[in-house]
Amino acid sequence: RTLKIGLIPGDGIGKEVIPAGRRILEALPASLGLKFDFIDLKAGWETFQQQGVALPDETVSVLKSDCHGALFGAVSSPTTAVKGYSSPIVALRKKLDLYANVRPVKTVLTAPKPIDMVIVRENTEDLYVKEERTIQTPDGPVAEAIKRISYRASHRIATIAGEIALRRQKIRAAGAPSIHSGPLVTITHKSNVLSQTDGLFRSTARDALKDPRFASVAVEEQIVDSMVYKLFRQPEAYDVIVAPNLYGDILSDGAAALVGSLGLVPSANVGEGFAIGEPCHGSAPDIQGQGIANPIATLRSAALMLEFLNEEAAAAKIYAAVDANLEEGKLLSPDLGGTAKTEEVVQDILRRL
Ligand code: NAI
Ligand code: MG
Repeated sequence: RTLKIGLIPGDGIGKEVIPAGRRILEALPASLGLKFDFIDLKAGWETFQQQGVALPDETVSVLKSDCHGALFGAVSSPTTAVKGYSSPIVALRKKLDLYANVRPVKTVLTAPKPIDMVIVRENTEDLYVKEERTIQTPDGPVAEAIKRISYRASHRIATIAGEIALRRQKIRAAGAPSIHSGPLVTITHKSNVLSQTDGLFRSTARDALKDPRFASVAVEEQIVDSMVYKLFRQPEAYDVIVAPNLYGDILSDGAAALVGSLGLVPSANVGEGFAIGEPCHGSAPDIQGQGIANPIATLRSAALMLEFLNEEAAAAKIYAAVDANLEEGKLLSPDLGGTAKTEEVVQDILRRL
């Protein structure tokens, strides 16, 4: 099988880590029967400065018509509004209907307190529909935002969370060491206060997970604030967490802090038959150009993309090579307390692959 993969490095360290993602895919053993065609694509702040758009139409159309998946690095976004600029990854999620943002947060098993969870964040609605308005009143301005939750979006996000729980169980059953005994999905919400919006999310997710396919998946729910508390006290208790957009955004950055460095945490934006792997970190202007960015978030994102393209065996090889590098702990980048350059970390992982 030949997979066509779009490469969108973006800005800053995106340009240093996406080439590493390409190399790890090219280095997969031939016995897997996988080949790759890579297509270089543009997006980001530099693209905006050159072309006046942050996400050229060509990037979108090539992804839609020619690619199975993509790797996206990071883009630099201005902190105040710049006319004509909007975040390309947010636009891509919409244009390609990438409705799930999947973020595994994992330590190696030999860590003092191993963690192995996946946060599945709804990616298309909630407060992020960005329908805001400001009303002028005699007491000053009042700003409002729409929080939109639909049955359809809640149902499909809970369904993919259930599928991810089953797939993780399958990988464990195949002998991968794990801290979890069985598949568990935790539904996160605040329906005690927001009974209609979060209420709909909660009841729909429960419904979706009642499907007989998920008979072996344990389902629990947790109110989002106590969830944060428990996530920090007892992170080992979580397997798959499913959440509406805003809570998922916050929980996933918080969870990333548990494993020590943003440079380790991958994500995937997933739609029907399409996936974009994306490291969770940004363009890291403070370290760009020094050759010291940690490539692991990107390598794991490449593996995650493969998982959603039904290439689990290839994904497992990448995860194992990365874990072996971390467990040995000799060639670590500076964000992990080491002195290795990006290139040395990549070389070590390629050798293990
Ligand atoms: P950041 O993630 O770029 O950096 C935060 C800190 O983590 C920095 O100290 C950085 O050096 C470190 N770091 C991040 N990735 C690393 C890696 N792979 N290896 C070693 N150290 C790493 O977040 P920040 O500084 O808030 O944002 C910088 C720029 O990135 C901004 O323009 C922001 O808008 C953009 N950004 C883009 C994202 C995306 O494209 N998805 C996500 C987050 C931020
Ligand atoms: Mg975020």
